[in-house]
Amino acid sequence: MRLAVASDHGGYEVKQTLIEYLKKQKIEVIDLGTNGPDSVDYPDFASEVAEQVSRGFVDGGVLACGTGIGMCIVANKFKNVRAAVVFDEYTARMSKEHNNANVLCLGGRIRQTEEAKKLVTIWLTTPYAGGRHARRLTKISEIEKKNLK
Ligand code: RB5
Repeated sequence: MRLAVASDHGGYEVKQTLIEYLKKQKIEVIDLGTNGPDSVDYPDFASEVAEQVSRGFVDGGVLACGTGIGMCIVANKFKNVRAAVVFDEYTARMSKEHNNANVLCLGGRIRQTEEAKKLVTIWLTTPYAGGRHARRLTKISEIEKKNLK
């Protein structure tokens, strides 16, 4: 399992904690920044991770900013990316089970780092349900193709 991870300043602390946590579980982590608490622009970092996921260079991505929202908006501009901002255990589970999200977005300013670890673990371990949800994901891909023309 290889994950690309990035944050802006608002998600820096949670990113650092998650990288350590993921590595302990033998997950290969590519840290795409930011590398300190100084103010940066989240689109720059979301793009780095989304591109890795979009091109299939990694199995998934984790992004953190203040709320997770900006990162999610940017990541979903990339082909094949299904980014989800999750706020609790239920949305973390559903992001995989129903949406097969391949990028998880978290808000560093709205949760404790311990909770972020729990949400990432739920996202990583929940299986995608497929079935009726596959039809919906196919529709998302079709919308993507149509709008890329
Ligand atoms: C930065 O202040 C903040 O806007 C950013 O971290 C994020 O929350 C955007 O969605």
